[in-house]
Amino acid sequence: PSYHVEVLEEVPSTNTYLKESDGKKNNTLVFAKKQTKGRGRLGRSFFSEDPGGLYFSLLKIEDLLQYNPAYATIACALSVRDALSEVSGLSLSIKWVNDIYYEGKKLAGILTEGTLEMETGTLSSLILGIGINVNTGSFPRELEDIATSLFMETGRTYVRQEVAKSVLSHLEKNLLLTKENPDALLASYKKHLLYLGEEITFLYEKKPRMGILKDLTAEGHLLVESEGSLLTLHSGEISIRKG
Ligand code: BTN
Repeated sequence: PSYHVEVLEEVPSTNTYLKESDGKKNNTLVFAKKQTKGRGRLGRSFFSEDPGGLYFSLLKIEDLLQYNPAYATIACALSVRDALSEVSGLSLSIKWVNDIYYEGKKLAGILTEGTLEMETGTLSSLILGIGINVNTGSFPRELEDIATSLFMETGRTYVRQEVAKSVLSHLEKNLLLTKENPDALLASYKKHLLYLGEEITFLYEKKPRMGILKDLTAEGHLLVESEGSLLTLHSGEISIRKG
């Protein structure tokens, strides 16, 4: 598609910006050089004050029936993973549901936000927010051990427009697969899933638990064996880490 591109010097959050502005066209793409209040999943923040990073959000408000919103997050994660692996040559993994990791450190995060039509329960807008540590040279001390960038891992710098272009072309293709062939999408996603078969720690009914990550279900949920039973973990409610 052709995008309506906006480039902002600084904004609290490109997702919030799109959410709060009326009259934006379908396929509006907002890039920010810096975000002062970058948002992550589960109410967390996302460090996005380094101008070497790539922070952007895409707005979809038309033809939403082409997509199955249940798989939008999975489509996004796979797209970012594949694009970043291609441009950098690094072998990257996906930490469920949508964090991109390299050797135990986070390289990119995704925040998808949708609005449902109250009366019909159909999707009326989709905002896909992507943050990638591309040329980031350093992180605040508290993130040093858990975050990394393409630059730090490869010693090269990247043209951010080209990285974005690659992510978007994977994304448009994978978004269509959410409806046309979700099984293929899930199969590709599962190939790169972190901790498969390993012990993980997670919150279940607000309590921390341990279990073995057994599988990804056809709905894109996690199947975990814990204390003798099989549990299904849904996105949005829980976070996992290695046990
Ligand atoms: C996460 O780590 O949980 C998700 C991080 C998502 C960050 C991106 S940066 C562009 C867009 N704007 C935001 O405020 N968040 C997303």
